[in-house]
Formats: sequence, structure tokens, C-alpha cells
Amino acid sequence: MRIVYVIGTRPNFVKTAPVIAALRERLPEGRHAIVHTGQHYDRMMSEVFFEELGTPAPDHMLEVGSGTHATQTARTMERLEPVLEAEQPDLVLVPGDVNSTLAAVLTAVKMGIPVGHIESGLRSFDRTMPEEINRIVADEFSEQLFLHSEEAIENLRAEGIAEERMKFVGNTMIDTLVALEGRFREAGSAARLGVEPGAYALVTLHRPALVDGELLAETVERLVALAAEMPVVFPVHPRTRAKMEAVSADHAGLLLSEPLGYLDFLSLLADAGAVLTDSGGIQEETTYLGVPCFTLRDNTERPVTIRAGTNTLLGLDPAAIAGIPAALAERPAGRPEPPPLWDGHAAERIADEIAGG
Ligand code: UD1
Repeated sequence: MRIVYVIGTRPNFVKTAPVIAALRERLPEGRHAIVHTGQHYDRMMSEVFFEELGTPAPDHMLEVGSGTHATQTARTMERLEPVLEAEQPDLVLVPGDVNSTLAAVLTAVKMGIPVGHIESGLRSFDRTMPEEINRIVADEFSEQLFLHSEEAIENLRAEGIAEERMKFVGNTMIDTLVALEGRFREAGSAARLGVEPGAYALVTLHRPALVDGELLAETVERLVALAAEMPVVFPVHPRTRAKMEAVSADHAGLLLSEPLGYLDFLSLLADAGAVLTDSGGIQEETTYLGVPCFTLRDNTERPVTIRAGTNTLLGLDPAAIAGIPAALAERPAGRPEPPPLWDGHAAERIADEIAGG
């Protein structure tokens, strides 16, 4: 069997690493070709993940880089087509909902190559989010849909997608977290930053709706105010860094850093007293770890994290940051049960489906 894995961004690497490992083990004689689109390209957004996750070096680098949605998608399609022509895969596997995912699905399906979609069926029901468009297209055109939570079944049914295409396998991002747990628990990243475990807030922000417009300056102001109550650690995504420089926000009192490697980041996440984010993956990781998460968005495609009790939707409203200390004080103690099949074995179930159990 010949499989091509198409990945391009930081969360893609985390979601796909365990699937590549499980399928290489299950199909040792098969061809496992990794295509890196180059959507993320800085060392700390890309290479460090391959090293820490033990993912083999990519077989093909498309080097598409940054650009508008159309440019990034079109460039990926143009460069992926000859690779698929040469590889002649039986299956193309794609994770998540980024532009690399969209481009890979469209390219493969038009060449008549079956596609498998990891993390299928998530919906925010907000079509102004680029990721929502990417998810809908990926699910419509993928033959095998690997679902990571139960609500995905209803979401896909509502779009008329046939049950036989759906496989509820669980969350491969949690597989990676479980596999790395021994290492990140030892990492002691909080101590290195001089903050006390359980007593600081960890912040990540990168979505266009929050960082590309006027909300960013107010968000930074609110974070500076929060820092008077608890240390605020903020590894800054390159998109956000560029925008912060443009608005020249005063960020005195915040512990800003470059993007971190995954082990360092998970160490800080596991030890955080609170997390403030607009990321999808971090809503999930905090649910698994039992860390309080506050999400600066109006909606989430991951309602399971809210039902678990760890995640609170603040709305796309920086003023809500002020309420975090009070919310923490009222929060019941204890770590919830992880959602069904978030157990570290999702990738094995995907491999069973693809290679036969
Ligand atoms: C992308 C995904 C988003 C995902 C996020 C994870 C889409 C539409 N968006 O958003 O769903 O949550 O990745 O991080 O696919 N840049 C660098 N170095 C890099 C990568 C990016 O400097 O290695 C800068 C560039 O200025 C670029 C900007 O970040 O223009 C945005 O990068 P891009 O990949 O377009 O979108 P993300 O915001 O990273």
C-alpha cells in the first residue's frame, strides 16, 4: 500500500505524527511518503516538531510559504500535483482544517485518489472562519472520515454524509500528548521562566478575528492588567508578533517569548493555573490535562471541551479577560474524565481501519 501524508502547519505535525508511526509499524513494506507543504517554515514552527515527535524527515518539501488564502492554496495544489503523480498513492491522508489540508484534498480528489481526513466532523457553524470552509470541503470529499468526538457524527449527518464513511476513532493530538507526558512532566519549563506552577496564566493568540484588527491592542492592555494579579506567559505566534509590532502595543509586565517547542509548551500548559487562548488544539489539551481554559472566541468547534467543564467561552471580547481571576476562584477542583476515546490509542484505530485490524 502506498500512502502520502500531507502536512504543513504546527498542529498538523502533532495530529499526524502518531498516525504515521502506527501505519509504518502496521505496513512496514508499504510506502509512507511525507509531504511538507511549507505553510509553516520557521524552525520553531516546524523542524522542532519533527525532532521532538520523532517524525521522519519529509520526502517532499513544497515550500509554499505565506500568502493570501488563494495564493497559499493554489501554490500548494500546483506543487502537490506532480508529487502525487510520481508517488501514485492508494491513499492521501490529511489532518485538521488548515489551507494545506484544503489544497491537498482538492488536488487528490481531482486526480481520483481516495482521501482520509483525520479530525473530521468539527464545526463552529461560523463560515467567516477560514478553517470552517476548509473542514466542510475536506469532509465532503474525503472517503474515510476519522472522527475525534461524538458530536462530529451529528454534524456530518446534517450535511448528508453517509454513515459508512465515518469512523469514530478518537483524538490523535491526545495520542501525542500521552506519548510525550513522561518527557514534558520532567521539563520544568515554568521554573526556567521563574514562574510558580499553578500560579500563572499561559496565553496564545493567533486567529485573524482577534489579532488582525482593532481587538489586539485592547487584548494586550487587558493582559497587562491581568499580569498585576498573576504572571502572564505569552509565547507569540509570528502572525501575532507582526501585528503587535504594527500597533506598537505596550506589553510591559508580560513574559513574552518566541514560539516554543512542543515539550516546553506542554510543560507550561500542564503547570498553568489558567490558559487563555483562541487555539482549537489547546482547548483539547487543557481538557485532557484538567487545566482551566478561557477561550477568546464567540464559538468553538470543540463543544466537548465545554461539556467537560475545563473550557469557558469568553466571547470575542477582550474585556472578559478581567473576569478570569474571579472565575478561577469559583471553579470546582478536580480533573474531569477525558472525552470518549481520548485515550492515547486513536492512531492505532486509524491504522486498523486503513490496514485492516
Ligand atoms: C494557520 C491556520 C490555522 C491554524 C494555525 C496554527 C489556515 C487558514 N490557518 O494559521 O487554522 O490554527 O496555522 O498555527 O490554514 N509565519 C511566519 N513563520 C511561519 C509561519 C507563519 O512568520 O513559520 C507568519 C507569516 O507572516 C504568515 C502568518 O504568520 O503570513 C500567518 O501564517 P499562516 O500559515 O498563513 O496562518 P496561521 O495564522 O499560522
